Amino acid sequence: MDSFLRILGIETSCDETAAAVVVRHADGRGETLSDVVLSQLDEHSPFGGVVPEIAARAHVEALDGLIAEALARANTKLSDIDAVAATSGPGLIGGLIVGLMTGKAIARVAGKPLYAINHLEGHALTARLTDELTFPYLMLLVSGGHTQLVLVRGVGDYQRWGTTIDDALGEAFDKTAKLLGLPYPGGPAVEKAARNGDPKRFTFPRPLVGEARLDFSFSGLKTAVRQTAESIAPVGEQAIADICASFQRAIGRTLEDRIGRGLARFRQEFPDYDGMPALVVAGGVAANQEIRRVLQGLCDKHGFRFVAPPLQLCTDNAVMIAWAGLERMAAGMPADDLDVAPRSRWPLDGEAKAVIGYGKRGAKS
Ligand code: KG4
Ligand code: ZN
Repeated sequence: MDSFLRILGIETSCDETAAAVVVRHADGRGETLSDVVLSQLDEHSPFGGVVPEIAARAHVEALDGLIAEALARANTKLSDIDAVAATSGPGLIGGLIVGLMTGKAIARVAGKPLYAINHLEGHALTARLTDELTFPYLMLLVSGGHTQLVLVRGVGDYQRWGTTIDDALGEAFDKTAKLLGLPYPGGPAVEKAARNGDPKRFTFPRPLVGEARLDFSFSGLKTAVRQTAESIAPVGEQAIADICASFQRAIGRTLEDRIGRGLARFRQEFPDYDGMPALVVAGGVAANQEIRRVLQGLCDKHGFRFVAPPLQLCTDNAVMIAWAGLERMAAGMPADDLDVAPRSRWPLDGEAKAVIGYGKRGAKS
């Protein structure tokens, strides 16, 4: 028997089409043999958000070629792989169908097991590939579709400590950018504008700050930005910069409070934790330097290690899906039946209560 496992990963849950080949060595180390991602940004940007129908069609057109490229770059034949891992939720249903059906077809033809992977589990386990983290640790996922603080206890063992009750953090950046006439995706544009702004010019709300629950809320912030922009119209370049800087400051303060409480809770729940526990950040918003600075400061204060995987593994990719499949295989978890269905909603923590806004995303919202 091989001393390692090799898997093909497929990701199509949102606006990135991705395929990757990843290996897990007998000692638990991971090795990425190929990592191919095609962003659909250009197709969606005229609409200021992801359009599900366009996304699904783009996945259909690109996926086969990307898989062939991922296999070729990894110098791997289908007969060399031990399994196929495909994202089966949560996400946009059209894209999920494309990726999962393709994964099933390859698994069937190659006679290999199929792992239907929760996209959030991919994000949650990435830091074990990049930084060889041990359980338990905390993960903050901040993307265009999700804002969650999750306790990662083991493979398949997650507890959601907090989630957004309305907009995701990336969505708040995108909507704020749109209001101010900045390009899509909004996060990088808002961050850039904020560099020349005065973060103290406007005081924006910091929702839920001070509350014991660890949830997030960002829709009020976006409303406050709109009202401010309207009250000082016409909004010039400096005003836009000041709004963006003040907006980021409000988010920084909110995260300081929410995540600070999360780190304190971890200390309470694991009083005997040996060594330095870790806070891992994932999702596109993790690119934001101001947010990183806040999280690093919090980790320093609470004695945590701040782990930020390379950006291309923080945003959507197939390496993380492949790795989640490998972790499942190595843990002896069963593969999925070929009749497994995609799930647009699929909480990582089955015990967590449903919250309005969870997993929702789209150009019209
Ligand atoms: O994880 P991701 O690439 O994809 C999905 O959510 O599908 O995250 C994209 C989100 C967008 O909302 C984008 O505006 C945000 O991440 N983002 C940022 C930055 N770069 C990307 N938000 C704040 N600051 C940034 N520098
Ligand atoms: Zn994601």
